[in-house]
This record gives sequence, C-alpha cells and structure tokens, in this order.
Amino acid sequence: MQQTHCSNRTSYVIDPASAIEHVRLYDQHRLMTRVAGGLFPKDLTLESVSSVLDLACGTGEWVCDVAHTLEVPCVGVDLSTWVLLSARASAKMQGLDDLVTFQQMDVTQPFDFPDHSFDLVNARFLADVLPRACWPTVLQEGLRVLKPGGSVVVTEAEWATTTSPAAQHLAHVALEAFWKAGQGFSVTGRELGVVHALPALLKGSGAHHVQVESFVLDCSYGQPHYTAMVRHLWATYLLMQPFLTQMGYGSQEELYAYCDRFAQQCREESFQGGMVLLRAWGGKSDEPEREDFFLPPSFPSLSR
Ligand SMILES: C[S@@+](CC[C@H](N)C(=O)[O-])C[C@H]1O[C@@H](n2cnc3c(N)ncnc32)[C@H](O)[C@@H]1O
Repeated sequence: MQQTHCSNRTSYVIDPASAIEHVRLYDQHRLMTRVAGGLFPKDLTLESVSSVLDLACGTGEWVCDVAHTLEVPCVGVDLSTWVLLSARASAKMQGLDDLVTFQQMDVTQPFDFPDHSFDLVNARFLADVLPRACWPTVLQEGLRVLKPGGSVVVTEAEWATTTSPAAQHLAHVALEAFWKAGQGFSVTGRELGVVHALPALLKGSGAHHVQVESFVLDCSYGQPHYTAMVRHLWATYLLMQPFLTQMGYGSQEELYAYCDRFAQQCREESFQGGMVLLRAWGGKSDEPEREDFFLPPSFPSLSR
C-alpha cells in the first residue's frame, strides 16, 4: 500500500460541477469554522500577515472570510474550473475582487509561485482528496512559498461515527474505498488516520515548531450542530455514490437506499454522533529542527 511518489493530479471522489457539492462546501465551511472556534488557530500571531494562500480552496469560503477579516491580499487555488467559477462569483458578490484572486493550479505539482511569497498557507479537508503519496510534495511546496516567520496551517477531520447502522455502513465502505484508492494514512482502512498523521507529516516535510489543537463535534440529536452535521453527512454520502459504485460497494439504488435509511435513523431521539477535528500548524525557520519524530509504516517517504 505504500507509495513513494506523487503522480495523480487528484483523486477527488465528488463531482466538482455538482450544485449540491457547492452548497455542501458552503455549509461545511460555516459548520467547521464554528466548531474550530474561528478561521485560524487561536495561538497564531496574525499581526504580520500580509498575504495568504489557500490550497485546493474549493468555492473559496475560507479565503473570502479571511480577506474580510484581515483585509490583506489572499489567493485561492484549485484544480476545478467549476469551483473556481463559483469562488470568483462569490468574491465579486462580496465586493472582494480587489483583495481575493483565484487561480487554477494543481497542488500536487510545483506551485506557480516564487519562494517566500506568502505569510500564511492554508490547506483544509484534503485527506480524502489527495493521494497519500502527494502530501510531502504539497507540504514542502507550501513551506517553499512561505516567507520566513510564516506558517502553514492544515485542518483535517476523522470520519464521523454515529449510532445509525446505515451511516456506519456507508462510513465503513467509504473508508475502505479511500484506503484502496491510496488516500488517508490508516494501516487497516478502518479510519482516515489523518489526525494522528498530521503533526508528523508537517515535521517530516520540514515545518518547525509544529503545534496542534483539537475539537470534538457532537452531532447527537438535539445538540447545536445536529442539523448541520447530519445534512452534511447525508450530502457527502449521496455525492460519493458514483465513486463507491465504481469501487464495487453497491449500485446507485443500493447506496441511495442507505442514504434514505440514514435520513430516517438520524431522526430518532437516541441518535448520537461525533467527529474529531485537528488543526496543526508549523513555521519556516533557518534553524535546524531538533525535535525527533517517527513515521508510521503507512507513510509515504519524506525526502527533506
Ligand atoms: C473537500 S474540497 C475542500 C475545499 C476547501 N479546502 C474547503 O475547506 O472548503 C476539495 C477541493 O480540492 C480540489 N482539488 C482536488 N485535487 C486537487 C489538486 N490536485 N490541486 C488543486 N485542487 C484540487 C477539488 O477541486 C475541491 O475543490
């Protein structure tokens, strides 16, 4: 299962042209920003940030909110023409055309930016998007385009667990399919494995002073994030159907029937669910990093 080079442009399993996906990304941004207590790690110093890059920015919600908050030039890059169309329109409608620009770019390839271009490089929710072998390339490029003193911030979540048997079935097949497709850092295919991987990935790619903060999203029946999260999960499973069918995990009819059962089961007052979110960040420095770290066997090789 170990891969040693990064060749795929993307293994994004959802159609980026789907209108449901654009709504899902918008809702996901609002929900996850609330859960994570804001757009940035709480201990990150923002005073000297004068330029921001968001990798695989999707419909640009994070980068537009950052431009509103910091009032500095921000750049969002993504591979998909469709999400960039949506992102540019959204920035225009928010009056952010002067501050935010969007560019089509494949983040698994050398970035189209010179060294030392940005104070902050952000990457969020790419564990089930990028092949695991591409992570070192992406993080090393993120550090290359970072100015000394800047930070790379990466936010990822493990897959939600719930008491809905239908959702658990879909979670099980999705995680196994990701694993078989070369995504995530699990050693068994039973979880994404990204939460434990992030700090070591950052350190292994050359980031200094790596820090983490974690959050638990409780989406049990009646909790504040219940409605947003069950809607998000349902939409995610619905949109993943073509990928799951292609990977041999059931026909469209069968998979849609699981989505329907989940919609029913999450209405039970006994429904419980949760998800763990991790934000890890590190900086760029000329000093040698002294801290030791160990890479699990599922890791791609990290050349430094
Ligand atoms: C799950 S969305 C995450 C969007 C955004 N980071 C967020 O937090 O809302 C994944 C995005 O990655 C983009 N993507 C997939 N492969 C890519 C690649 N190789 N280079 C750049 N973007 C890519 C997809 O087009 C999609 O917009």
